[in-house]
Amino acid sequence: MSLLIRNGRVVTAVDDYHADIFVEDETVSLIGRNLDVEADRTIDAAGRLVIPGGVDPHTHMDMPFGGTTSADDFETGTRAAAFGGTTTIVDFAIQTKGHSTLEGLETWHEKAAGKAGIDYGFHMIVTDMEDDRLWEMRRLADEGVTSYKMFMAYPGVLYVDDGTLFRAMRKAGEDGTLVCMHAENGIVIDEIVKIALAEGKTAPKYHALTRPTRMEAEGVHRSIAIAEVAGVPVYIVHLSCADALEQVTLARDRGAQVFAETCPQYLFLDLSHYDHDDFEGAKYVMTPPLREKWNQEHLWRGLGFGDLQSISTDHCPFCFKDQKVLGIDDFSKIPNGGPGVENRMSLVYNGGVVGGRLSVNKFVELTSTAAAKLFGLFPKKGTIAVGSDADIVVFNPERRETISIDNPHTHHMNVDYNAYEGTEVQGVSEIVISRGRVVVEDNIWHGRAGGGNFIKRGLFGGPF
Ligand code: URP
Ligand code: ZN
Ligand code: ZN
Repeated sequence: MSLLIRNGRVVTAVDDYHADIFVEDETVSLIGRNLDVEADRTIDAAGRLVIPGGVDPHTHMDMPFGGTTSADDFETGTRAAAFGGTTTIVDFAIQTKGHSTLEGLETWHEKAAGKAGIDYGFHMIVTDMEDDRLWEMRRLADEGVTSYKMFMAYPGVLYVDDGTLFRAMRKAGEDGTLVCMHAENGIVIDEIVKIALAEGKTAPKYHALTRPTRMEAEGVHRSIAIAEVAGVPVYIVHLSCADALEQVTLARDRGAQVFAETCPQYLFLDLSHYDHDDFEGAKYVMTPPLREKWNQEHLWRGLGFGDLQSISTDHCPFCFKDQKVLGIDDFSKIPNGGPGVENRMSLVYNGGVVGGRLSVNKFVELTSTAAAKLFGLFPKKGTIAVGSDADIVVFNPERRETISIDNPHTHHMNVDYNAYEGTEVQGVSEIVISRGRVVVEDNIWHGRAGGGNFIKRGLFGGPF
């Protein structure tokens, strides 16, 4: 099977030129002007950007959490991702406390195999790590799971203490892998939550008001300090505010191997989304919570100047009616997380490129290339180059859509609300190609459950 994409404006993290792209089977085999080749199918991309498929390094499909399970599984979630121009996700397998991480990996392979419609990898969430199990970490790396996530939040659930953090970080550093951190002081936050509940403050907005930015900044500072001593690069996930960003900037300025992502919810939504008398604010109960709006310009500046390397979604949807409602009388019981995997590329293009904050190359870097490099997927993923996987998006930079659960062009996620309801965006993924196969065209799904492959990722390739 061969595919010729003609007349497009090819944009990678560094290039911007007009050319034809010839794809044979799963990979790009030729790039040039007016290519003289025969193809099984030709796509005319005149007036369109031709960009690498998005890489979303932070999703939670089919994740048991908060007494329920995230509403998208690997089939619905990866299909929705593809509609939005994302062709690779890195999801999180979870180690059950007291059990092997390798068992956790097996469970997540079973969840994804035969379901994922685009390629995927796994990080491993480490929930405990005794000395006699440290050897597993190298095995995970050999299996292509070359990054771990640990939580300073959620005591009694996913939380690990600083000793565990250090032990696992030291081994991860020895093995050449990367540690992802959920950086928040969960112990102090739980005390603040107890006080709020005792005062009868049970509404969704108290989820945000009990998680001060200082406690995120403290977690960022502490995890970086421990990582520096342990000798491992650290990647701060879902960074939400200026306070936390300052800690990343300070560390990077002194040369520490520190990386961080933010997410569309922290760039486009804010604390005012909790201002409802009814339960509506539960839609935005996620951790870290939405912050005061002024933080957003700091995050954009961090993205523009390179202190934040990537934009992921932390896609972890729960239905408003059936799942968020678990916390109707107590905000601390609302399942934490929100949807977004489908809307990321359009939101970032609109807010970044159309909004004059990012170059088009930077847009590609933040939504695809940087995550591919950090997480051992590059140059297979994250760029358009001869030999790379033909994960390609034909992106219309002029087309506008209003994001809504009722707009069939913007919502395929298996969740009963859209966090960006009513937001108008300019820039839409029109044709999405995953390893040489057109999986989305004319807003129709042409892929198949099981069409996505598990990708064994390489070791951390830094320093960057
Ligand atoms: O609220 C969130 N972020 N839910 C998903 C779990 C996590 O902490 O990433
Ligand atoms: Zn987290
Ligand atoms: Zn997450």
